[in-house]
Amino acid sequence: MFLDNNRVFELLEKYGSPLYVYDEKILRQCCKDMHDLIPEQNLRVSYSVKANTNLEILKIALDEDLDADAMSPGEIYLEKLAGFPSNRILYMGNNVSPEEMQYAIDAGATVSVDSLSQLETYGQLNPGGEVCVRFNPGVGAGHHEKVITGGKRTKFGVQKEFVPEVKEILKKYDLKLVGINQHIGSLFMEPTPYVAGVKSLLEIAAQFPGLKFVDMGGGFGVPYHEGEGRLDLKETGRQLNEVISEFLKDYDNKDIVFKIEPGRYIACECSLLLGKVYSVKENYEKTYVGTDLGFNVLMRPVMYDSYHAVEIVKKDNVDAPTEIATIVGNICESGDIIAKDREVKKAEIGDACVIGNAGAYGYSMASNYNCRLRPAEVLIDMDGNDRLIRRRDTFEDLVRGFNT
Ligand code: LLP
Repeated sequence: MFLDNNRVFELLEKYGSPLYVYDEKILRQCCKDMHDLIPEQNLRVSYSVKANTNLEILKIALDEDLDADAMSPGEIYLEKLAGFPSNRILYMGNNVSPEEMQYAIDAGATVSVDSLSQLETYGQLNPGGEVCVRFNPGVGAGHHEKVITGGKRTKFGVQKEFVPEVKEILKKYDLKLVGINQHIGSLFMEPTPYVAGVKSLLEIAAQFPGLKFVDMGGGFGVPYHEGEGRLDLKETGRQLNEVISEFLKDYDNKDIVFKIEPGRYIACECSLLLGKVYSVKENYEKTYVGTDLGFNVLMRPVMYDSYHAVEIVKKDNVDAPTEIATIVGNICESGDIIAKDREVKKAEIGDACVIGNAGAYGYSMASNYNCRLRPAEVLIDMDGNDRLIRRRDTFEDLVRGFNT
């Protein structure tokens, strides 16, 4: 909670509800944490912008000397708008059309392909070009099966047994492999699986002399539960340094760059989501606190059963005992639950509801479901001043695509 109670109500009053609030200081610190991961090595940090694509957040990430990865032409478009030079954008296509791949090539981004057939497509579009291949190191990790992207049960990456086929296609189209990458999944809280994935990726790298970079992927976790320990970045860095140093002993290009690709770690902890309590009721012995925080605003609890810390902030700072309540939104589905059976201050109409760690995959996964308007976003800058960095949707936004 980087906002005191009065500021919560002040911001809701000024900008309306619901509201995503970002703290620039925390955001910048998280960028620095990632830069400092492996001080001994040639490390670049690439922000995986899918976590949060607000243009102001992108500009701050750029100002903190981060590069960017992109999963779609839309992300490339936004990154360029934010000022990222194209040679600092890595586009990771996943089952994309030739037109989409061409967009990335024309934009000047480095293109990573995710399968042998997409490597063929790349070769046909850009013979003689420079390309990157995403491998699946055979190891996965993540907070939910839906976000594990390495290992034997996922659609991602090229199996390492296919290295000879990769080489054949590279030769066929005279392509230069400039990098290889992986992403084993999202949110690990201890280094073991990530380091195992990197080890495996480096075994693949060793079979491709002259690479310019190895991109080890994102997935660095942050604690969502109150009192939960943090990912030990020092220890993670130490283990990574060991594995990388071992690899470098025999590798020809000593200037090879090692990249990481954090999304959540950069954008998560700098944001709180604010909402309002509009009803409180008992339904068959359960207390429901009804808010405007439907899953159109924050999808994660419904999509992945994710836990987010929740606080009821009392209006006028009155004191209140706690109770066990389920916090729900205003969407027309019974699954619209933001937090189940939580101990919170006894809520009343007019109180505020504050959700922690909302900056990653919060607004970026928000929608207009039920024709609800996506919320506004506000930044608290380095001097503590607040300003609007994205306005709330309007009804006009709902009809933008129609021939009315
Ligand atoms: N690189 C690639 C290729 C990725 O697919 C992802 C995330 C990342 C990097 C960044 O991962 P991170 O550092 O943020 O863990 N919506 C889910 C998370 C999905 C992650 C998808 N890929 C959630 O809300 O938990």
